[in-house]
Amino acid sequence: MKVLVTGGAGFIGGNYVQYMVNKYPNYHIVNLDLLTYAGDLTKHKEIENRENYSFVHADIVDREKIFSLFKNEKFDYVVHFAAESHVDRSIKEPDIFVRTNVVGTQVLLDAAKSINVKKFVHVSTDEVYGELDYDPSTFFTEKTPLAPNSPYSASKASSDFFVRAYHETFGLPVNITRCSNNYGPYHFPEKLIPLTISRVLNDQKVPVYGDGKNIRDWLHVYDHCTAIDLVLHKGINGEVYNVGGHNEKTNLAVIQTIIRALNKNENLIEYVEDRLGHDKRYAIDPTKLEELGWQPRYSFETGIEQTIQWYLDNKEWWQNILNGEYRAYFKKQYKL
Ligand code: NAD
Ligand code: TYD
Repeated sequence: MKVLVTGGAGFIGGNYVQYMVNKYPNYHIVNLDLLTYAGDLTKHKEIENRENYSFVHADIVDREKIFSLFKNEKFDYVVHFAAESHVDRSIKEPDIFVRTNVVGTQVLLDAAKSINVKKFVHVSTDEVYGELDYDPSTFFTEKTPLAPNSPYSASKASSDFFVRAYHETFGLPVNITRCSNNYGPYHFPEKLIPLTISRVLNDQKVPVYGDGKNIRDWLHVYDHCTAIDLVLHKGINGEVYNVGGHNEKTNLAVIQTIIRALNKNENLIEYVEDRLGHDKRYAIDPTKLEELGWQPRYSFETGIEQTIQWYLDNKEWWQNILNGEYRAYFKKQYKL
């Protein structure tokens, strides 16, 4: 099987590429990535010379290049992660979110249709459902109407509709996964958990938006990888699967957990102006995916411990990101 993974230099796509290369020696995994600020190939040093792995530097919006790649490579499966993914950036610069997340997805769908791929998995987010209130008995299910609130989630919801339309109109075999917030190794230090770990380790203040009471449902990235693997191989064509492990935490509780684990003082917490349109709460009902056979391995408690230890053991990786040195590696290794 030949599998195209888009966005495989990013956080979740990167973990997924490593998972697939190791789990399926008989598959060929092609990682396609534009290497934006969020793309980093240093994480793939251990697999970059494996026979079942290759990297393609390309923009998913570049129709000509994407079509010629699909024609030459004849992929069996496409797993689509590539996206602009940060809500704060989408508030400042929505245009690029439409370009990459909507137009880029539509180009890939057309290319996938042109060679009749066996499955197109679109990796989406629970943020397309909008927000929940603080009633702990309410959850997002696959039937919850889409009501995105940020330019990021609006662009992801638009791409979800295109994926659905290509299934309904052209019969393209697709699945959409909608996962809650991920965390774990190689998480880019602009997002809450790696930002907190890296700043606390450097004795820098941690900015908490608003009152810190907003709730996110955290899933370890390794559990997201197994969910996508299952959906790729067993998902029923045309179906949407929510992915989450019932790990709801307030932002403040997440930050306090990290500060305590690192033996630092809570006076590092700094309340700052709230994010515009800040969604109150996300929480996933994963029953449909569990019925397909998925179970997460990590609770928040075991997952955050593993993640903090990973950031302690891999300081060089995130410090290079913070000071931009990883760009030099790309230049040397890939002439990019
Ligand atoms: P990320 O920002 O870490 O990585 C995105 C990757 O896409 C980067 O490597 C970047 O270089 C690449 N990319 C961006 N524009 C591109 C383009 N035009 N052409 C080719 N490559 C391009 O993102 P992430 O957190 O790993 O998220 C991956 C996917 O999972 C996204 O689609 C996101 O919406 C979804 N998702 C993320 C989370 C989360 O908590 N991070 C949760 C649920 C779903
Ligand atoms: P983030 O990691 O950006 O993910 P998302 O917005 O996709 O959920 O943010 C997670 C939560 O943490 C969100 O409620 C915003 C909040 N937050 C802060 O309070 N301070 C920060 O510096 C960041 C980056 C996020």
